[in-house]
Amino acid sequence: FWSQSERSAIADLWDKIDVDEIGPQALARVLIVYPWTQRYFGKFGNLNSVAAILGNPKVAAHGKVVLNALHNAVQNLDNIKATYSKLSQLHCEILNVDPDNFRLLADCLTIVIATKFGAAFTPEIQATWQKFLAVVVAALSSRYF
Ligand code: HEM
Repeated sequence: FWSQSERSAIADLWDKIDVDEIGPQALARVLIVYPWTQRYFGKFGNLNSVAAILGNPKVAAHGKVVLNALHNAVQNLDNIKATYSKLSQLHCEILNVDPDNFRLLADCLTIVIATKFGAAFTPEIQATWQKFLAVVVAALSSRYF
């Protein structure tokens, strides 16, 4: 399912990603670009403006949690579905997150990465990265059905 070049493209890109920087930016972007996602984060405090979202420490902390969870998938490329089984169940049954939102987060993450790495984020790397995220999104959605 993963070619050797795909495996190294994902590993190389992941090595360059600073979770503490990219995670907060990606989650903040979801909350700004798709404001209805704010409804899931009612206990995160003030999300009433772009500045409030970008400066919200709970958003930043949770962005890091999400990206650290993505690291698990990078390290378990051949077992992503099993890796996320519990997390899928949590988002479905406890958090009641609409699974469409996983793709929105994936897209925001790709845009944050493109903004950060510019031309070094080549079309080939983007293609592999988006294949990876599509598998992640499918795995996170797997316990919904
Ligand atoms: C919690 C991962 C997408 C809403 C979590 C947790 C992880 C996680 C690891 C903590 C679980 C725990 O405490 O045991 C991910 C990953 C995602 C993703 C890897 C996609 C790549 C989303 C999206 C939403 C969302 C798109 C909503 C729009 C939440 C909420 C919590 C949570 C509300 C609980 C936060 C809290 O109470 O602190 N997620 N998540 N997640 N996630 Fe996600």
